[in-house]
Amino acid sequence: MHRLAASLVVLVPLISLAQATTPPATATLGTSRCAVKLSVALTGRSPDAALLANPNPQAQVDALLQGTAFIERFSRFVNARFNDEPGAASVEDAAYHLAKHVMTNRLPWSDMFLGATRVDLVNNNVSIVTDANGLGYLRSPAWLKRYAGNEEQGVKLSTAYRILNNTTGISLTAAVVVPGLDVSAAGRRNAACAGCHYDSWFALDKVASVLTKRVGTGDAMRFEAPTAGPQQLLGKTIADDKALVTALVNSPDFEFNVCRVAFGFVHGRNELACEGPLFDRCVDAFRTQRTMQAAIATLTKDASFCREGSTP
Ligand code: HEC
Repeated sequence: MHRLAASLVVLVPLISLAQATTPPATATLGTSRCAVKLSVALTGRSPDAALLANPNPQAQVDALLQGTAFIERFSRFVNARFNDEPGAASVEDAAYHLAKHVMTNRLPWSDMFLGATRVDLVNNNVSIVTDANGLGYLRSPAWLKRYAGNEEQGVKLSTAYRILNNTTGISLTAAVVVPGLDVSAAGRRNAACAGCHYDSWFALDKVASVLTKRVGTGDAMRFEAPTAGPQQLLGKTIADDKALVTALVNSPDFEFNVCRVAFGFVHGRNELACEGPLFDRCVDAFRTQRTMQAAIATLTKDASFCREGSTP
């Protein structure tokens, strides 16, 4: 023990001296490995010859973020994150189509939820339609039907949850319905249900009550104006889906979730506790620039991205 401790005393200054004089060999990935990591993370492909030969691959982040390979990969990632499974038809994957549009045009990420657009079929092609009455993809006909749910009075609990999940990242697992369970609005006020359905900031029944109501099913499905009147939600009086989504997008949870999504895309995991300062820089960059690109660039231009041990 004593000998070990003594030799450590000698070793420690030697190690720090070695780090100080030869940084790239120990701490930093070589430039070619950095180029590979960057290219795979952003585009899913190996780097081209120019990137591989670049003495500072991270200087190419902005160029990579303009490329179609990145935009395609990121839009698919977002779609997988915002939906539990792929849609039955492409038009149902509204988040994928609008993400491509938002990223290609370098629009603020909030346009995903608040932009004057809808995702719709035009001559059988999935299109981004300019629509003064649009709400990002959240009023797209196929998406509304996909998430209309089956609640007996047409209360769109499924839509309510999807809006909350896609804007803030909140993740809930719906209760398992067993025969005899009272799933009506009255039943959902029971202690086992009210936590998610009435009592929390994300109270699904209150959120759903400001949305339109589903009438009918399948091809006959249509939506009627809400009748419950404005609700107290998120510290505000909220009357409709637009006010709801606006309040969600203006919340700190939204900015936080943008960087969560960016982290998930770049690293395939959530941020670690020790990455708090980097996460904060990501949120700051998003707050000033408003684009998803700003968040992703913060993470991939950071020195830590091309350091040993930064891969999970
Ligand atoms: C942990 C949170 C949570 C709890 C507790 C919970 N639910 Fe839910 N509930 C959800 C979520 C999330 C959804 C939306 C699921 C979806 O469609 O994506 C949902 C949806 C529903 C729906 C609508 C289904 C549809 O297809 O439209 C009913 C009805 C429902 N819950 C009843 C209940 C009842 C009854 C209880 C108590 C026994 C309960 N829930 C407890 C989270 C919860």
